Amino acid sequence: MEVVIMPSGTEVGLLAARKITRLVGARPDAVLGLATGSSPLAIYAALAAHVREGTLDTSRVSAFALDEYVGIPADHPESYASVIDREVTVPLHLDPERVQVPDGRATDLEAAGRRYEEAIRAAGGVDLQILGIGANGHVGFNEPTSSFASRTRIKTLTERTRADNARFFASPDEVPTHCLTQGLGTIMDARSLLLVAQGSQKAAAVAAAVEGPVTSMCPASILQHHPHATVMVDEAAAADLQLADYYRWTYAHKPAWQQF
Ligand code: GLP
Repeated sequence: MEVVIMPSGTEVGLLAARKITRLVGARPDAVLGLATGSSPLAIYAALAAHVREGTLDTSRVSAFALDEYVGIPADHPESYASVIDREVTVPLHLDPERVQVPDGRATDLEAAGRRYEEAIRAAGGVDLQILGIGANGHVGFNEPTSSFASRTRIKTLTERTRADNARFFASPDEVPTHCLTQGLGTIMDARSLLLVAQGSQKAAAVAAAVEGPVTSMCPASILQHHPHATVMVDEAAAADLQLADYYRWTYAHKPAWQQF
């Protein structure tokens, strides 16, 4: 995979947004895969700036979110439906009809997972999937030991993930215990993957994903099997990478035609 180390999280966001803006420029009806959490916020802010400046037309773009909590109402401010609406759909002027989030309120969650897979297929598949990474190596909500072949389904959150996400809720007890998440197999079907991470709390997970063995104990390590996976991290998240100097040199000498 391609690893790009930027001086700061803001610069990660700007570079990632440039890559996405180029994609949409070349393919105005692109299908984007959206991640929640704090990692991609700088990307969304930079994309919103492109929209305001008129350098990005999102009118024909569609989008699919990675995951949703089970057990909280859709209008809860921390449901991923609310987060995607607030952080992405509104600021990026996406057509709400073209933005989908897994239905965590469905009474039949298995059927909701199947419907989501069908919706992604019907849209022609995801062109570019944005990913964050959990401190335990999860992507979407695919916790350690998730099957590499998994599709959209219900998952139980680990205590670590619930504790990490408690900051978004009034109390740790309020963090849902379950979710509906795209599987690793679903994510791997996207034509390109863009994983972003910032901060020292992600350094170990980033190193395990990029340079460690491919193992379901670090779900993000499956990206090593994707033909078009890019990992953009800030210096703090790059701290444990053994080949950091190699990645820096490679990026600094990227031929012009290959640049983002
Ligand atoms: C969350 C999300 C993931 C996200 C990850 C990291 O709970 N389900 O999609 O990438 O955990 O979150 P953050 O970016 O806030 O560190």
